[in-house]
Amino acid sequence: MNYQGKILWLTGLSGAGKTTIAKGVAQELRSRGCLVELLDGDVVRTHLSQGLGFSKEDRDINVRRIGFVADLLSRNGVIAIAAVISPYREIREKLKQTTTNFVEIYVQAPLAVCESRDVKGLYAKARAGEIQNFTGISDPYEEPLNPEVICSTNQFTIQQCVQQVVSYLESQGYIP
Ligand code: PPS
Ligand code: ADP
Ligand code: MG
Repeated sequence: MNYQGKILWLTGLSGAGKTTIAKGVAQELRSRGCLVELLDGDVVRTHLSQGLGFSKEDRDINVRRIGFVADLLSRNGVIAIAAVISPYREIREKLKQTTTNFVEIYVQAPLAVCESRDVKGLYAKARAGEIQNFTGISDPYEEPLNPEVICSTNQFTIQQCVQQVVSYLESQGYIP
């Protein structure tokens, strides 16, 4: 079978589990011999998207850039895993239509759960008014309406969520 590149697009609130699941999926796919590249919003914002903020305009630019790079990679046989809040449905839909092999994965957890995890202490800062336009607190998040996979990270373990993604890819014949 001729396996192709893919874009695995993990969207969800801060603290929902995008980075954690992306790393787990990457590890599993690499162990099966796939070429994998991670595009994590936090990391991309220190390089390709350095200087961008969190207005709708800046988020859209960031998401478009990541989509562009992911498309280049996937067209060359790489499984590009994007872990990006990407809060606006319209731009995610546009990427779905204009790229090839786009798989939308909704990394879902209630806001209260994400906030209680507060992995980087950002929710506390957002509540204190020290960070503006914080997704879920003072900025919107538009849930995917028809994602290929939903990982409910408050109901399932990290390993179960990783397996859920891998099983979906297997079921579609996307990976060995
Ligand atoms: S976006 O909306 O898709 O452009 O966001 P992304 O590139 O994924 O960057 C999200 C990470 O930036 C940190 N951060 C914020 N997130 C949301 N809102 C505000 N205002 C904000 N300020 C900083 C945070 O670490 C996000 O990473 P994750 O992994 O989602 O927690
Ligand atoms: P994000 O990148 O979406 O902001 P992170 O991956 O940085 O999220 O943080 C998610 C946090 O939730 C981590 O501390 C992780 O250990 C925890 N967590 C608990 N259950 C899960 C799960 N099923 N999937 C992913 N992360 C989980
Ligand atoms: Mg992250």
